Amino acid sequence: MFITFEGPEGAGKSSALAVIAERLRSQGREVVTTREPGAGDFGKNIRQILLHGEDLDPKAELLLFLADRANHVSSIVRPALKSGAIVLCDRYADSTVVYQAHGRGLDEEFARVGNSFATGGLTPDLTILFDLDPHVGLSRLESKDRMDGQSIEFHLKVRAGFLYEARLNPMRWRLVDASQSQEAVLEECWEIITPHIQSNI
Ligand code: TYD
Repeated sequence: MFITFEGPEGAGKSSALAVIAERLRSQGREVVTTREPGAGDFGKNIRQILLHGEDLDPKAELLLFLADRANHVSSIVRPALKSGAIVLCDRYADSTVVYQAHGRGLDEEFARVGNSFATGGLTPDLTILFDLDPHVGLSRLESKDRMDGQSIEFHLKVRAGFLYEARLNPMRWRLVDASQSQEAVLEECWEIITPHIQSNI
């Protein structure tokens, strides 16, 4: 079972992911948590360039996210799924379509084809969208990386892009209102995830 957590900055998905993973483990399930960009040694180097390096050509940026994803899928995600683990991944292919195509304005079709090339067609079973007004999300951040530091217009396009993607594929996406308290967000996530997991045993 492959579950991805998506959404704009500061929406609380990473903390929710960590708690959900612990709850699932306490039920005796095998869980692998991972993230993009930046899983594994190769990913860490790419993450450094993408988030903390100098400004990049948008096309180079897109290709680096895809390179990170290709390696992440083959070295971490597929082996974990093969071993029967539940994989919880903080951002995945949808982030590229949203940030690089909807946000940066790069070709959407290219982003989709690139994702399918990089992942060999591996699509999440479930994607949770933590929806939040970027004015709120950005104000929650303690420090900003290269992507967080983009204009508010960019972040508004990102939010709209996620909502667009979720509407395109309502069978895979579930939306959580991330403006609620952390506890409420977490409980909503848990209620979304557990029936999926039970039906996949
Ligand atoms: P990260 O520090 O992991 O933050 P977050 O908690 O927001 O996930 O930052 C990852 C940043 O990279 C985030 O701003 C989204 C961006 N990103 C893309 O632009 N394209 C992608 O394909 C991915 C995976 C992330």
